[in-house]
Amino acid sequence: MSETVSMTDNRNGKTYEMPVAEGAITAKMLQKVRLDQSDSGLISYDPGYQNTAPATSSITYIDGKAGTLLYRGYPIEELARGCKFLEVAYLLVNGELPRRPELNRWRTEILAHRTLDDPMLRLIGAFPRDAHPMGMLISAVGALGTLYPDAKQVQDPAVRQRQIFRILGAMPAITAHIYAHGQGMRVATPDAEMGYVSGFLRMVRQFGLDSLDVNPVIEQAMNALLVLHADHEQNCSTTVMRSIGSSHADPYSAMAGAVAALYGPLHGGANEAVLNMLDGIGTVANIPDFLQKVMNRETLLMGFGHRVYKNLDPRAKLIKELAYQVFEVTGPNPSIELAIELERSALDMAFFRDRNLYPNVDFYSGIIYQALGIPPQFYTVLFALARTVGWLAHWVEHLEDSTQKIARPKQIYKGPDHRAVVPMDQR
Ligand code: SDX
Repeated sequence: MSETVSMTDNRNGKTYEMPVAEGAITAKMLQKVRLDQSDSGLISYDPGYQNTAPATSSITYIDGKAGTLLYRGYPIEELARGCKFLEVAYLLVNGELPRRPELNRWRTEILAHRTLDDPMLRLIGAFPRDAHPMGMLISAVGALGTLYPDAKQVQDPAVRQRQIFRILGAMPAITAHIYAHGQGMRVATPDAEMGYVSGFLRMVRQFGLDSLDVNPVIEQAMNALLVLHADHEQNCSTTVMRSIGSSHADPYSAMAGAVAALYGPLHGGANEAVLNMLDGIGTVANIPDFLQKVMNRETLLMGFGHRVYKNLDPRAKLIKELAYQVFEVTGPNPSIELAIELERSALDMAFFRDRNLYPNVDFYSGIIYQALGIPPQFYTVLFALARTVGWLAHWVEHLEDSTQKIARPKQIYKGPDHRAVVPMDQR
């Protein structure tokens, strides 16, 4: 059997052989299917890229049916339980887990950028106290790039590496200053020997715990949360990072776009939407009425459903376990019981099971953040802090892929035919 598919154009009886590689046909092959020489050939129509691979990638693999997630081949469960976030960041960018000397060098280069220059502090301070933190983050990431004009040399591997250190290093500080601005507090200074996560938790005084001594349980939970959110194949915001990167814009501008995509409630903004949804439901007694509204298409069950997972998102399972570890320090968050009962009730209903609607990464994460006293508007900023390294890994992979071109999809035109402009007094 040959690795091809045969296609017959029933409009004129012509047949075509399309080669199949890696389970795909190349969309460009469809251009061969023409009625006559004036015909530019077939294109594929795929809103939301539901069945389109715009890239090859070696970074992350998801088996949606089995509910498995691998970063460079390593199961997410092992990485979240056994590795530091900077180890996993090294893995995502470089393809292998670091040895001790490599990790030490990587850590030193990144932590060297842990403080913000004055223009960044003035920019963050200029926002209204109640500005949405994600709007601030979009601006701050774009602004950071203006401090590094050399970042435009995106074809130079050494320039790319330097921006990766700068961005990974600055993100905890940007996140902390945005949080502190909203809380009307000052950012605390991490001790020199503090690591990436412990240093970040010190900067924000462990959020509602308001303590400079970093609690090891909170540090471990935050480390695991950052690992679990670090990358996820060609999700919406990563696709934006790759698309903007394909025009050879600098990585700060590309990342500002990615942050904007993550902000959406259908994507990373869902963690904030879940808490607002739970607040709206209020008590377990109101769950049946709420789920009826969802089945009537009046609203979505936020934190449920996924384009790829048609089983439980493995991250949701791990985050649910982390919640109880955090509660040992913060005290239980009553929202967890409501969320568990909401999950149980939904999965008891054919409407959700038939559509493979299970909890995703955003369903339980907000409950941990709420227990830590973090305001819901800030949850997606923590998602962005974690996903920064995934965006950067994909940005590099896209630039290093010699088969890639600037992103410029086709369209199916549905507008009016050619027509002449009528002068204003004759319209
Ligand atoms: C993230 O892509 C990634 O990997 C993203 C992410 C990452 O790490 O980067 O995993 C992070 O974004 C997780 C998703 C967070 N978003 C939410 O929790 C918002 C709620 N979820 C939905 O909006 C939805 O499930 C999506 C956007 C996540 C996925 O949408 P799809 O793949 O386009 O699925 P669909 O809208 O075609 O839904 C299929 C059916 C439809 O019903 P029918 O028309 O077939 O009868 O399921 C229904 C939908 O109406 N449906 C839901 C639902 N999600 C889908 N109905 C109620 N509530 C929901 N949440």
